[in-house]
Amino acid sequence: MTALLQLEGLAVGWPGGGMVRRAVLEGLDLRLARGERVGLVGPNGSGKSTLFLTLAGVLAPLAGEVRIGGEALVPGRFHPGVGLVFQQAEDQLFCPTLAEDVAFGLHNRGLPEAEIAARLARALDDCDLTGLADRPVHHLSGGEKRRAALAGILALGPELLLLDEPSAALDLRSRRRLIALLAARDEAMLIASHDLELVLDLCPRVVVIDGGRLCADGPARDVLGDGALMAAHGQEVPHSLLPHDPPRHRHG
Ligand SMILES: Nc1ncnc2c1ncn2[C@@H]1O[C@H](COP(=O)(O)OP(=O)(O)O)[C@@H](O)[C@H]1O
Ligand SMILES: [Mg+2]
Repeated sequence: MTALLQLEGLAVGWPGGGMVRRAVLEGLDLRLARGERVGLVGPNGSGKSTLFLTLAGVLAPLAGEVRIGGEALVPGRFHPGVGLVFQQAEDQLFCPTLAEDVAFGLHNRGLPEAEIAARLARALDDCDLTGLADRPVHHLSGGEKRRAALAGILALGPELLLLDEPSAALDLRSRRRLIALLAARDEAMLIASHDLELVLDLCPRVVVIDGGRLCADGPARDVLGDGALMAAHGQEVPHSLLPHDPPRHRHG
């Protein structure tokens, strides 16, 4: 079967001082099936956000290929199948009210009003935001902003969601709510996160990137539970994968 996402020999870089673009990512091979959720783990600056901007069509590859549903991605052009949720919700929300923000992309696509209304209602409901539709965006809490940014992307109906540090700066309850919301969805997801417990909760598979290269790709518990691998890439084995002492009770 055709993979939903296929990267072959992908190299990406940012413009440097001159016209030369230094590669941030090199020789990346990766395949994602439809509906698959994969955690993307790597230290700060390892290129997770750069990869997302490339998959969203914002950055053009230096080399290699990106295929979505078998079709080559055209740099500079949005692919309707890919939805990027930015790390900072504030970077994504800019309309006066929540409802206008979530509907913005739908208007942009020139969809009929009735379809916009239906998709908006659905996305707000899916993200537990229905009661907040008319709220000014700057009066939303951090957790609500994060769900609002997600709703605006879900409304567009992507097949692949790119989530950049989705739990950053969320309190425990907002984080749980977000995890539950994402766990219930059918879209394929690439989730870049330092919150390895969130990755374990949501992703059966994890890839590690460091030094511009893909360093590991396998079942989440094997990859994240490998102490030496984690340490080599500036990570720690998440607490829930560490061996626990047998329960002890002290009396008196
Ligand atoms: N807008 C940009 N312009 C130039 N270089 C950038 C830009 N954004 C990121 N970089 C560089 O690309 C590399 C990877 O960064 P990034 O993709 O943000 O990593 P991560 O998301 O894994 O923390 C870093 O060396 C960073 O300095
Ligand atoms: Mg980043």
